[in-house]
Amino acid sequence: MEAIHITDVAPRDGLQNQPVHLGANDKLRLVQLLAAAGVRSVEATSFVSPKAVPQMADAAELLPLVHAALPALRCSVLVPNLKGLERAHAAGAAEIAVVLSATETMNQRNINMGLEQATEVSERTLAAAQALGLRTRAYVAVAFDCPFEGETPLAEVLRLAQRMQAAGAGEIVIADTIGSASPGMVKERMRVLAEAIAPERLAIHLHDTRGMAVANAWAALEAGIRRFDASVGGIGGCPFAPGAAGNLATEDLVLMAERSGFATGISLDGLLEAIDFAQERLQRPLGGRAIAWLRRQREKTNSSNNTSPETATT
Ligand code: COA
Ligand code: ZN
Repeated sequence: MEAIHITDVAPRDGLQNQPVHLGANDKLRLVQLLAAAGVRSVEATSFVSPKAVPQMADAAELLPLVHAALPALRCSVLVPNLKGLERAHAAGAAEIAVVLSATETMNQRNINMGLEQATEVSERTLAAAQALGLRTRAYVAVAFDCPFEGETPLAEVLRLAQRMQAAGAGEIVIADTIGSASPGMVKERMRVLAEAIAPERLAIHLHDTRGMAVANAWAALEAGIRRFDASVGGIGGCPFAPGAAGNLATEDLVLMAERSGFATGISLDGLLEAIDFAQERLQRPLGGRAIAWLRRQREKTNSSNNTSPETATT
């Protein structure tokens, strides 16, 4: 079976937008449950202004806890600027992600910079991270539609992705930040991008606002994409992008991929453990499209395991 690689972004993209703020120990527990489920990469937190995103104010406390508990886990952190990189490096980060939106207005709203400045800051941050020996990712956000400017021109997405590639980003993550893409659009855009960027460096980040995230993931697979961001339980949304709903749920992606002949290395039962925990802590129901079915499957397995042969025949 061909493998796909999944980065679970729930600890950052998921938790950054929740009304209930989790403490560092609960965040660590969530990451531990993800790792126990077989997830090999997470986006653990972000080193952004605590005024902008108070949910991530404990990044410097959390990251060393995660590294100590799970030394083999690939663990990326989002940094919007050089100050974020400095803070991440001081906390022992091994991998950072910069975030560049493909429109003027979205950069202004998200990181208080225009497009040109945001591009230069991302390039400088990538260069400085590489000089420190860190692995790097670069998000190209609002790569399909922008909540402020409408459909984002593909030529602009391509131009920025190529600039991030030239700046040495190890992985370029094309993000449907508000979850407005459709499968046709994903297939077309990812095919064009895959001609310019090596597939092992190209990833897609999807949201499920319109119920199309799994279909979009399939379209990306058809376009040759093998690297995905997803969020366990579909927890997610961007506080600066109006209308952005939850992310592509990791369990939906794993189920779709495994049923379609791709190996993920991730256990659905393990993901259910993580969802149960996050749901209890965030005090609201979580889960992607397949959650009810997954829970029923688990109940069936549990009840058949708990039934001894004698009682089964009575
Ligand atoms: N981490 C923590 N503090 C930071 C910081 C960082 N990465 N970058 C800047 N700051 C601090 C500055 O030190 C300054 O602090 P002070 O008021 O105590 O002096 C303050 O923030 C303002 O600095 P400035 O450079 O003027 O930033 P800004 O107000 O223009 O905000 C960002 C820019 C990028 C820091 C802010 O918009 C941000 O953190 N955005 C993140 C958005 C996000 O996480 N979106 C979701 C993920 S895509
Ligand atoms: Zn997102």
